Amino acid sequence: SRRFNIALLPGDGVGPEVIAVAKDVLNLAASLEGIGFDYKEMPVGGAALDLTGVPLPDETLIAAKQSDAVLFGAIGGYKWDDNPKHLKPETGLLQLRKGLEVFANLRPATVFPQLVNASTLKREVAEGVDLMVVRELTGGIYFGQPRGFKTTENGEEIGFNTEVYAAHEIDRVARVAFENARKRQGRVCSVDKANVLEASMLWRKRVTAIAAEYPDVELSHMYVDNAAMQLIRNPKQFDTILTNNIFGDILSDAASMITGSIGMLPSASLRESGPGLFEPIHGSAPDIAGQDKANPLATVLSAAMLLKYGIGEESAAKRIEAAVLDTLERGFRTGDIYSAGCKLVGCKAMGEELLKSIESHKLAT
Ligand code: NAD
Ligand code: IPM
Ligand code: MN
Repeated sequence: SRRFNIALLPGDGVGPEVIAVAKDVLNLAASLEGIGFDYKEMPVGGAALDLTGVPLPDETLIAAKQSDAVLFGAIGGYKWDDNPKHLKPETGLLQLRKGLEVFANLRPATVFPQLVNASTLKREVAEGVDLMVVRELTGGIYFGQPRGFKTTENGEEIGFNTEVYAAHEIDRVARVAFENARKRQGRVCSVDKANVLEASMLWRKRVTAIAAEYPDVELSHMYVDNAAMQLIRNPKQFDTILTNNIFGDILSDAASMITGSIGMLPSASLRESGPGLFEPIHGSAPDIAGQDKANPLATVLSAAMLLKYGIGEESAAKRIEAAVLDTLERGFRTGDIYSAGCKLVGCKAMGEELLKSIESHKLAT
């Protein structure tokens, strides 16, 4: 049987709740395909701060680097919000992404037919949406230098950051977007702010240059403010959206709502080789943490992406995706995707229903 090492990083807030469900689902789906996992559970974020004093202990990064794939919950919480930058839970996640050099973050937004009613958009706008945000993840304003705080001559405090991209950083994530689009509808929309920002001017120039390697893929460009509007106006116009770190962060949260909830969107963070990082796009949801209310589907679907993109086990990934659809079809909903006539369940019960769906499809797949 095939065995893989998984670094399991539950983190804070709803992180451990959704990871517990995703782990059970992953184990069952994989076992039916003859796959086994060895897990190494490690602290990250606020949990790591409380335990070790830093948001990403060396041991956690080492375990992640030595794994075949990393499954991550979420980090952050009120308790650590006023910590200095280097002692914030969020810094741990950024260090992990940088440490693994996972520069390409795939964030698919798919409207499942069962959830059209959960979207805040009209049925005819939301129905059939299937897009992929390819977000650059290890550069841009999140990491650019100079950054920091200082006091001006007249004693005023200023905070500053730098949006910076090198050509090679743009080229490699652009290639990921073009490769992905090839397997989808063959269209890339590159989103930038090239009418104002130099880093975006270079972005547009490099993406246009890389597009020449992919004559079969159609490239268009859009300014980010228009893209935010177009996502809400007519999301079906998009196939693959290629964008920088901060625009991708914002646009993917917006895209999630088309699908019904931020609790639905998974992600895969990848590089050319080496372990990928798989996590929901949502955060630690401190407002509902510890109440068994979190939607585990974003993390469950991230586990499916781990199987598909992380370790090349597509059949097991399909079992998970089928189980998600079947569970929704049978009417089970957490609060964030609830609509009248459905069965309201908590995070754990949703997990149990997913396991039942996998069991009942054992022979069918
Ligand atoms: P959030 O994504 O945690 O929550 C936003 C809203 O969506 C909340 O109302 C929350 O209850 C809801 N929500 C999120 N996930 C859900 C789920 N699975 N099921 C149901 N509802 C869900 O964003 P926020 O409130 O801006 O941030 C909270 C904390 O999380 C902050 O510390 C932030 O830095 C951190 N954060 C972490 C990540 C990550 O770990 N990747 C991502 C975003 C935010
Ligand atoms: C995300 C989050 C993170 C980001 C934060 C918590 C660092 O919002 O994964 O989308 O901005 O990338
Ligand atoms: Mn985000």
